[in-house]
Amino acid sequence: MWEEVIVREKARHDARDFRTALGCFPTGVCLVTALAADERRVGLTANSFSSVSLDPPMVLWSLSRSATSAPVFRDAEYFAINVLSARDAELSSHFARSGEDKFARFADRFHGGLGGAPVLDGAAASFECHSRHRYYGGDHIIVIGVVERYAYREAAPLVFHAGRYAGVDRERSPK
Ligand SMILES: Cc1cc2nc3c(=O)[nH]c(=O)nc-3n(C[C@H](O)[C@H](O)[C@H](O)COP(=O)(O)O)c2cc1C
Repeated sequence: MWEEVIVREKARHDARDFRTALGCFPTGVCLVTALAADERRVGLTANSFSSVSLDPPMVLWSLSRSATSAPVFRDAEYFAINVLSARDAELSSHFARSGEDKFARFADRFHGGLGGAPVLDGAAASFECHSRHRYYGGDHIIVIGVVERYAYREAAPLVFHAGRYAGVDRERSPK
């Protein structure tokens, strides 16, 4: 445990330190996927996923403008959010690295969903979305989509906290 409180002012901003502070907020982990106009599948690991609206059903995620797949996601009509289960930490690490065809190694795990966006078989949940709004927010683009189809199952989630993967210990959670 840390013994001191770390305080930073915006005037002395350090992006890495800011990321460390954000890492105090535990999140789930997703693979966001889409099909490019030239039929290439793109996907990246993301923990910025969040719900927006229940009715109509809408979700958002933040796309780094420096991701190699950023132009594809910015222009894609459809995208899929695949929520990872605790057993898929390897997929998360794989999709967090830029690479040619990230899907080749896991070809048997995906099928084409709405608009061709790859959907992960065995995901804790998948949300197939029609891209509705894009807002520029600093070095990211906030992408908001309307959920046109979703699926979910009972699965222990993959959790990201303080820069590391973790699981949820339901046995010890207060009811
Ligand atoms: C746990 C975790 C969460 C991440 N969350 C996001 C995110 O929300 N948005 C994003 O654009 N990149 C996020 N990244 C980084 C991308 O996965 C990474 O930059 C990826 O290599 C981009 O792929 P690309 O260059 O093939 O487009 C995250 C990485 C990790 C490990």
